[in-house]
Amino acid sequence: MKKTAKAHSNIALVKYWGKKGDENLRLPVNSSMSVALDSAYTLTTVEWDAQLEQDEVGMIDDTFSEKEKVKVSKHLDRVREMAGITTRARVVSKNNFPKAAGMASSASGFAALSMAAASAAGLELSSKELSILARKGSGSASRSIPGGIARWNAGESSETSYAERVEFPEDWKIKILLVMAEDTSAKKVGSTEGMAIAPTSPYFDLAVSEGKKDIERIKQAMDENNWSGFGRVIENECYRLHMMCMTSQPNILYWKGMTVEVFQALYTLRDEGIEAFFTVDAGPHVHVICKEDEAEQVKEKLSEIDGIKTVVECGVGPEARTVEEDLF
Ligand code: DP6
Repeated sequence: MKKTAKAHSNIALVKYWGKKGDENLRLPVNSSMSVALDSAYTLTTVEWDAQLEQDEVGMIDDTFSEKEKVKVSKHLDRVREMAGITTRARVVSKNNFPKAAGMASSASGFAALSMAAASAAGLELSSKELSILARKGSGSASRSIPGGIARWNAGESSETSYAERVEFPEDWKIKILLVMAEDTSAKKVGSTEGMAIAPTSPYFDLAVSEGKKDIERIKQAMDENNWSGFGRVIENECYRLHMMCMTSQPNILYWKGMTVEVFQALYTLRDEGIEAFFTVDAGPHVHVICKEDEAEQVKEKLSEIDGIKTVVECGVGPEARTVEEDLF
């Protein structure tokens, strides 16, 4: 059977950075929280075909590297095991955002792949089961299954480590501005590689224990409808994560000049009464979280900064779902 799924990318407000136990299970040292992006998604079609001798994996308007193809096949093995089949699959995937834009596609990619592959194999998985499956492909993908504002509970075992939606103050109409750097020339250290060396930082234990508090602090700020407090958690956590990266062995500096200039611009805006907050993943790009009715003023301020390639405006995205838009 052939099925197509659509899953949205997400950005972390409290991040996942470090695994515990068996690397392959992708059990995080900390719980994390994210927001799904409505304008960045992956569509993936999977067809199990008894005629195939090996999995056929491709992308529209882009390519998978050999390493990525192996990861996809390994993920299909997990679904084969769950469904009790040995059939190979044809997989075609399409991102609506270019890989070159510098946005991580593994979250939406593995969420869409998990849902399409499981559903085409006739498995009826709950959101929790899909989140667990997606997590094994790429940790952050666990949060693209529920979408919205999601919390991935670290858990103690594979069965207890999955993401769920969390309540968000209704009147917080938020926008996420993805501020993309022009200069991405630094040596790329991917998330998997970067977090593997996190324990070499002398600040690792501190970052883990503070990260545990952050997930409670951010919940409290949301429960109390405290926008400033919410932003404070996000920015403190961002600095702490990057402090850990900068002091890992070898050191990783993800930021560019433009990254810091965006921070400064947001501080200036804050003095003028506009509260927009920043966070940064494993790269130089900045994610700005602001209120919908202030997004234009924030963008205008950002337009004064050199070195920005583009600013992509996103709203909060939905959960992963199957759709009738087969790619082949
Ligand atoms: C900085 O989910 O890409 O974006 O599980 O090794 O595939 P793997 O890592 P991945 O890491 C994402 C790291 C991050 C923070 C986050 O999304 O929480």
